[in-house]
Amino acid sequence: MDNRAIGVFDSGLGGLTCVRRLHETMPQESIIYFGDTGRVPYGTRGRDTIIKYARQDIRFLLGYDLKAIVVACNTASAAALDTVRHEFDLPIFGTVEPSCDKARCVTRSGRIGVIGTAATVRSGIYEHRLRAADPALTVYTAACPLFVPLVENGRVHRGDIVIETVVREYLQPMRDAGVDTLILGCTHYPLLHDVIADFMGAGVTLVDSGAEAANAVRRAVEPAQVGAGGTQYFVSDDPQGFAQLAGLFLQEDVHGEAGLIDISAY
Ligand code: DGL
Repeated sequence: MDNRAIGVFDSGLGGLTCVRRLHETMPQESIIYFGDTGRVPYGTRGRDTIIKYARQDIRFLLGYDLKAIVVACNTASAAALDTVRHEFDLPIFGTVEPSCDKARCVTRSGRIGVIGTAATVRSGIYEHRLRAADPALTVYTAACPLFVPLVENGRVHRGDIVIETVVREYLQPMRDAGVDTLILGCTHYPLLHDVIADFMGAGVTLVDSGAEAANAVRRAVEPAQVGAGGTQYFVSDDPQGFAQLAGLFLQEDVHGEAGLIDISAY
């Protein structure tokens, strides 16, 4: 048994889709969550800035006694994971590897789509990882920059004309390409699962990158004792706004307010 906490960070709220899966599958774990709400979005920024932010996020989390860290942000996983894994002396999990593994398992046609932020798509990491594992795969990518602000404004439901229009605009080329597997390569996108699934059709499997990161943690870390769990939330801006929206991502309440920290000090 290892009762040390698991640290999880994201640029803001999206990483809570990973926390949700951790709560479901590892309810005994203590979790320290940091959402960088003062500097979100990461997805529009350059690689060096994202690496700098990821280092600071990890240094903050390391103020706690941790057994592992999850980079529950595809943008930070794509830009910074390889770098920070060499710099910090504990297991660090990301979203990209487990999502690629899952997609390779479930595809039948070998035609895989990946959607994410501009920075994630620009990094080329998903095509690289998937084709390195299996050169026969055909990978289609699309940046979907409007999805994050729409999700953060609650435009996630079936029948919402705005989100349905944007989903069609971004995903029509994926549908035309005949992908049978679509990686939701951004931790905000699982909230759009139903709208995306309706548009893509029943034959397309959606891969939830936050959930796959959580599954990778469950497979690798030594579990805590039953009953040891509890989650503490920290943000770099607007704790009340975070607590209000967090329920949408977690499907449960964030009890009390999140702690406010000055991330530039780390
Ligand atoms: N959480 C980020 C991701 O998974 C999306 C939000 C952002 O751009 O910072 O890529």
